[in-house]
Amino acid sequence: MREEQWPVGASVTVDQLTESPYEVLASLRAVEPVSWVPATGAWFVTRRDCAIEAMKDTLRFTVDDERFTTARVLGTSMLSLDGPEHARHRQAFVKPFRPKLVREQVEARIVEHARRLMSATLESDQPELRAGVAGPLAVATILDVLGLPEVDADDVLRWYGAFGDAIVALTVGEDMPAEIGDRLASLYGHVGDAMASDDPSLVRQLVDDAVLRDDEIPAAVAVVMFGAIETSEGMTANAFWHLLSHPETLDRVRADRSLIAVAIDESLRLEPAAAVVDRYTTVDVELGGVSIPAGELVTISLLAANRDPEVFADPDRFDIDRPNLAQHVTWAVGPHTCLGLHVARAETRAALEAFLDAEAELGVQFVLVSESVGPRGLIFRKPESVFLGSGTHH
Ligand code: HEM
Repeated sequence: MREEQWPVGASVTVDQLTESPYEVLASLRAVEPVSWVPATGAWFVTRRDCAIEAMKDTLRFTVDDERFTTARVLGTSMLSLDGPEHARHRQAFVKPFRPKLVREQVEARIVEHARRLMSATLESDQPELRAGVAGPLAVATILDVLGLPEVDADDVLRWYGAFGDAIVALTVGEDMPAEIGDRLASLYGHVGDAMASDDPSLVRQLVDDAVLRDDEIPAAVAVVMFGAIETSEGMTANAFWHLLSHPETLDRVRADRSLIAVAIDESLRLEPAAAVVDRYTTVDVELGGVSIPAGELVTISLLAANRDPEVFADPDRFDIDRPNLAQHVTWAVGPHTCLGLHVARAETRAALEAFLDAEAELGVQFVLVSESVGPRGLIFRKPESVFLGSGTHH
């Protein structure tokens, strides 16, 4: 019956949402801005005003539901709480992620990482910016922020892989993988060491502040670490991809670095690296004129909201002169607004600056190799690779 009431939603496939979602999202937004999508088993929200309404209203649209897999794998954290407990968990991290502290305490290290990774990547015969710069920059940065710089980057990727495997297993209805504890043991070992150490670090500060109980800290640290990896990699890779595939805009940025900020925001608008956020309804609700029963999964498409033509004229165009490009909802809105957004911005900015500096030093202007394919993905969206061609010499 739902299929008859929401025929566009009924026609949507996971493949479409993953590979080329723009047209189908536009049709949904135009005729079924809140729709039932059987392919994902969720209500699907594509209009910006409805998306914002749902994200702000945590009483009716919650993340605190035992069906969410993150909490089942890692334990309770701010990602799986609403209300006062969410505020307490988040409070513990607010200070180190404020823009002032990011600027004063981590930005210089981020710039150093970006320069090092960019020069190593550009030395290769076939430089590729996603695996060469965006990915390792995300890992190195979050280790610095947490105060775990001695941890091996490959270990972080192994932990993230273990976490991802467990999420997939639970999502397809399998039991929790028995070995997940073993696979994450060395992460929790490092966190435990930092908690006990006298060396200053964000992890040690969490113990001293005592906003979180000691037994809540490992999951909290894991959520912040994992929240920073794929997302920031995607954000930086998407920014490179947008600029390199719009050479006239890249030329303007080369000539005027003050345009980097708007270029980053316009890239964030067009391709939010985390394309959706999920909530469960706590009661029967009405959203965009549609009645949704209590206890159902609601997927909010940030990707669709960011291309709402009511707010963004000619929404599919990469246009850094848009007056309102910062009105995207890529960081979500409401109590769960991304905690790491200033760190993530500093990463992408440092990567772009390192690229432009390297071009100037080498006297070249790189181009995107012609067969490059743009961002793809159902939840996390990024290009498979961003290969650089040798470009022109100046
Ligand atoms: C240093 C990098 C990052 C860190 C440490 C980080 C951390 C976090 C944390 C801890 C939350 C949960 C906040 C809460 O529940 O109160 C969050 C939420 C979120 N983050 Fe980030 N994040 C980072 C980068 C990014 C990037 C690059 C994007 C997308 C471009 C992104 C998109 C989001 C979104 C959409 C949410 C809301 C999730 C929801 O409401 O369900 N994050 N982030």
